[in-house]
Amino acid sequence: MTKLSIPILLGSCRNGRKSLKVAQFILGELLQNNCIQTELIDLGEYKLFMLEERLKEMEETPPNLLRFCSKLGEADGILIVTPEYKNGYPGVLKNALDYLEPQALKHKPIGICTVSSGGFGGLDCLAQLRLVCLALGGLPIPDKLPISYIQEVFDEDGKLCDLGFKTKLESFINELVWYSEAMVNQKQLSNTN
Ligand SMILES: Cc1cc2nc3c(=O)[nH]c(=O)nc-3n(C[C@H](O)[C@H](O)[C@H](O)COP(=O)(O)O)c2cc1C
Repeated sequence: MTKLSIPILLGSCRNGRKSLKVAQFILGELLQNNCIQTELIDLGEYKLFMLEERLKEMEETPPNLLRFCSKLGEADGILIVTPEYKNGYPGVLKNALDYLEPQALKHKPIGICTVSSGGFGGLDCLAQLRLVCLALGGLPIPDKLPISYIQEVFDEDGKLCDLGFKTKLESFINELVWYSEAMVNQKQLSNTN
């Protein structure tokens, strides 16, 4: 059976970012799932330049940008982990997504996990990011995975303190897999007809 490709995109590059712990924990869980092939796409490591021209207008494409775009382009589904900054998502995430062609995420289900140190789980940022995903042809799934008071959910070493999160994550992953599988099956059907 071909595994579903569901990378995790981490939308923050701040030194000391707590959302990295979330992304790493989710990575560990996805790696244990035999149906999924995954990796962490960490914008803190990709270090994409601020967009000055679109990909297709560039004379030479930086290899990290090419890698970023092709990894998302090849994915069956995407799990975005992002902190909420100023009621929105970080600029580094928007800059990265702006490099993608308009339909780059067409038919790809997208699960969004939002991270906040406050009590609202980053829900404002979720609403905005869903709109951006739609502009890329992506399909934000209806399920949410908001994390409030992140400092209480993981300890300094990245160990999960709130075991309830694991249960929510399982159900969130199941939904994302369900939609991703459905889309892969539909694409195969369309290709054979
Ligand atoms: C520039 C900036 C803006 C922030 N704005 C918000 C916000 O609007 N709402 C919120 O709940 N938390 C906000 N926070 C706090 C984050 O929720 C907190 O830093 C959390 O740990 C997740 O982000 P991190 O991965 O950068 O650590 C902000 C943090 C930063 C650095």
